[in-house]
Amino acid sequence: MKALSFFTAASLTGIGSAQPAKQQNSTIYNPILPGFNPDPSCVFVKEWDNTFFCATSTFLAFPGIPIHASKDLQNFRLIGHAFSRPEQLPAFGNITGQQQGWYAPTLRYHNKRFWIINSCVGAATGYWSTSDPYNNDAWTNVTPTEIPGYDPDLFWDTDGTVYSAFAKTVQNDPFTTEIHQVNISMPSGNTTTDRFLWNGTAVQPPEGPHMMLKDGYHYLLLAEGGTAQAHQVTIGRGRSAQGPFEANPANPILTAYNTSQYFQTVGHADLFQDAAGNWWGVALATRSGPEYETWPMGRETVLYPAKWEKGQWPVLGGPVKGKMSGPLPPANRNIRGTGAFIKDPDYYKFSPGSSIPSHFSYWRFPKTENYAISPKGHPNTLRLLPSRSNLTGDATALPTDGITFIGRRQTDTLFTYSVDVDFSPSSVGDESGVTLFLTQDYHADLGIVRLNKTGTYLRFHAEGPGAPTDTVLPIPQKWNKQVLTLQIQAYNTTHFSFSAGPKAGRMQQIATVPATLVSNGFTGSFVGVHATNNGNTKSNTPSYISNWVYQGQGQYIGNGEFYPSNGKKGGAGF
Ligand SMILES: *[C@@H]1O[C@H](CO)[C@@H](O)[C@H](O)[C@H]1NC(C)=O
Ligand SMILES: *[C@@H]1O[C@H](CO)[C@@H](O)[C@H](O)[C@H]1NC(C)=O
Ligand SMILES: *[C@@H]1O[C@H](CO)[C@@H](O)[C@H](O)[C@H]1NC(C)=O
Ligand SMILES: *[C@@H]1O[C@H](CO)[C@@H](O)[C@H](O)[C@H]1NC(C)=O
Ligand SMILES: *[C@@H]1O[C@H](CO)[C@@H](O)[C@H](O)[C@H]1NC(C)=O
Ligand SMILES: *[C@@H]1O[C@H](CO)[C@@H](O)[C@H](O)[C@H]1NC(C)=O
Ligand SMILES: *[C@@H]1O[C@H](CO)[C@@H](O)[C@H](O)[C@H]1NC(C)=O
Ligand SMILES: *[C@@H]1O[C@H](CO)[C@@H](O)[C@H](O)[C@H]1NC(C)=O
Ligand SMILES: *[C@@H]1O[C@H](CO)[C@@H](O)[C@H](O)[C@H]1NC(C)=O
Repeated sequence: MKALSFFTAASLTGIGSAQPAKQQNSTIYNPILPGFNPDPSCVFVKEWDNTFFCATSTFLAFPGIPIHASKDLQNFRLIGHAFSRPEQLPAFGNITGQQQGWYAPTLRYHNKRFWIINSCVGAATGYWSTSDPYNNDAWTNVTPTEIPGYDPDLFWDTDGTVYSAFAKTVQNDPFTTEIHQVNISMPSGNTTTDRFLWNGTAVQPPEGPHMMLKDGYHYLLLAEGGTAQAHQVTIGRGRSAQGPFEANPANPILTAYNTSQYFQTVGHADLFQDAAGNWWGVALATRSGPEYETWPMGRETVLYPAKWEKGQWPVLGGPVKGKMSGPLPPANRNIRGTGAFIKDPDYYKFSPGSSIPSHFSYWRFPKTENYAISPKGHPNTLRLLPSRSNLTGDATALPTDGITFIGRRQTDTLFTYSVDVDFSPSSVGDESGVTLFLTQDYHADLGIVRLNKTGTYLRFHAEGPGAPTDTVLPIPQKWNKQVLTLQIQAYNTTHFSFSAGPKAGRMQQIATVPATLVSNGFTGSFVGVHATNNGNTKSNTPSYISNWVYQGQGQYIGNGEFYPSNGKKGGAGF
């Protein structure tokens, strides 16, 4: 890749300046899990080498529920996924709604096992566990539970009772909920009839409960106000896991509502302690500013320090910002596994014997035969075979049909993503290219498409309300029969460009699209590749993808300020 120059030496001045060694506080860079990583639930586990583990929501992305691990709360490595095998919950494959799938997980460590409980909206609610979070295959299948709601929590009381608090929709109104509770009996997964637990502070809808026992009180942490601008963190406590709960007079204890912070929608928190006894909180946040118009990365995971004195209410250290101060554990990137650190760039050649990087995602279950690394005669490529359905699909498309798509999260405000595409479309409908993908209802694509009997074209196509019209260009004669480079770039905080050129040659911008197109709903943007025959099922033309490059070029944190994409240490790095 040609070196990019978003960061001049001048713009780098002042970022990444290390704190004096003796000072206990250091700079927290948010988000800690940039990109589509909502609804964080984290635990600190001393027995697992003093490591923090976090789980986040994935909706229809597969594999689902990434587990990121860290020892310093700044460098997070993807160590696995809690949902990586269709047999764990086959019904995931039949979900129809684009805003359904895995909602907010709760991650807990109990009795030497890591546990997840979660609602897979459109399929089932259940819990499952592992003795080894570094090994995807060690996660059990999902044990379904009769929990009539969403955002279930998992809490073991001192008498051994397992409780799950969750949000239950009442009055036939999806935006009015109450927090209810069941007892779960393990290992059957049988539950008691649910009972009312708490309404929080009556800022509808209360959801995302997490129960914690401290100094003789059962605390119930909630998300209220819905996951948009009114999102807020509230807490109550009582002497029993079954309530009643009194509300903290200081509620909401964390929110960006009614503020001008760049990090908005702060809510859906979880709290945990580090080895030194410091308390920390995570939450989801959206880098949108109060205008809440441009937020292509969706809901991201942020960190903030907390104080929780004996017998007192916890005090959360807001407002959440891109740079904060707190007593972070010492920097440490010594995390087991081969998965990517979330802030790392991608340089993938798909060389023989390599496998698909674990941070690449499909949309629903993949048809694995449609993806092959270095197939015979095509070393250093990822071969895509087309799906009948294109990225949008049509009324006859079934969830189980599968779309040929593979992507990685947009994890940086500014980035350049490119791949080389070797594709010789021979049948009308054949298409392969790059996509900026939020859901099947919102995406923007630049592809090589056989549009009709005579011609193959470069086509930019976007889907979603307000999408620009297609740009269709004949492939320039001198590019013909060459491998093409297709590129997507977030060239400023509000716009993406789509460009093409002959491999290693000069790129030509084909189209731009505002990031508002992919600022919507519960998910966040991916960049990736796709292939389809647009319904012409007689065609199975392969495309060969190589030189997959994703480089972050800056994290915007508001007020005109950026910090380098790969964190404070490495600078921009290229
Ligand atoms: C999913 O739908 C297919 C039909 O498309 C059906 O055969 C299968 O049983 C369904 N699977 C589940 C787990 O519901
Ligand atoms: C769980 O519930 C089922 C159905 O009601 C019942 O047959 C089964 O005996 C229960 N299992 C346990 C361990 O209670
Ligand atoms: C749930 O467990 C608690 C503690 O064991 C018990 O007091 C309560 O009766 C149980 N609830 C139901 C509905 O069985
Ligand atoms: C909880 O909220 C619901 C919905 O607003 C309301 O109907 C119910 O009366 C409330 N319950 C309590 C105990 O406040
Ligand atoms: C935000 O402003 C609205 C409207 O004035 C008010 O009802 C609400 O209580 C405020 N919430 C917070 C958390 O500031
Ligand atoms: C550390 O930062 C916190 C804010 O998170 C501040 O209240 C505290 O005074 C700082 N401590 C030191 C030693 O600078
Ligand atoms: C093929 O499609 C292109 C782009 O829409 C159009 O300009 C051209 O006239 C079409 N050719 C035929 C033969 O339909
Ligand atoms: C980004 O560039 C577009 C033009 O391509 C421009 O309209 C927009 O205002 C720019 N955004 C910012 C934040 O400068
Ligand atoms: C996607 O496929 C459907 C048929 O399955 C077709 O009607 C539609 O035009 C295709 N979209 C694009 C952008 O080619």
